[in-house]
Amino acid sequence: MRFFVSALLSLSVLSACGGANEPAAPAPAAAPVIAPVTETTAPAPAEPSLEFAALPAPYNTASYAAGNRTWKLCQSCHLTAEGAGNLVGPNLHGLFGRQVASEPGFDYSPALKAETFTWTPEQLDHWLANPRTFVPGNRMSFSGVRKPEDRLAVIAYLMVQSGYTAPEAPAE
Ligand code: HEC
Repeated sequence: MRFFVSALLSLSVLSACGGANEPAAPAPAAAPVIAPVTETTAPAPAEPSLEFAALPAPYNTASYAAGNRTWKLCQSCHLTAEGAGNLVGPNLHGLFGRQVASEPGFDYSPALKAETFTWTPEQLDHWLANPRTFVPGNRMSFSGVRKPEDRLAVIAYLMVQSGYTAPEAPAE
């Protein structure tokens, strides 16, 4: 019995040391390397945003993050939910395809009321590039959105928010 135990012991000592003929003992499992939390989970800027996938080109290529950020410039003056009413600016629900200056209950400037066009994404792009020169004399106190990619994004954002999208998209 004692011999057996010491034989076992020496065996285990041997294997612990790793005899020349034995395969090298496996290295202790390395602790999993925890990658530092980085921003790599954010979509790459070049990736089209899923929120805009149903929109017509080129709006389906816009960045949702940029649209959301740029909309913050508008939201103090405009609501987009149906029936939510007007603020300093008119409610923009259903804007695309809507006659300019036609939101009920909003007191538009004479300049905007004199216009006859229907809002399209392209018209809105011109309006936002320079509200003052697009319709001189209008009352929207807003200097505009300078960067074309931010305009593309905020228009796409407004399309989704104002109910432009295909019927399967969540209603606002
Ligand atoms: C300081 C308040 C203010 C801000 C900020 C503002 N607007 Fe306006 N907006 C107005 C007012 C006021 C009018 C009406 C102008 C008039 O009657 O001449 C208007 C009109 C409009 C119209 C025409 C609506 C219609 O019924 O014909 C659109 C479209 C519009 N704004 C979009 C935007 C977008 C998009 C942004 C942000 C990028 C924005 N506005 C930022 C106040 C604002």
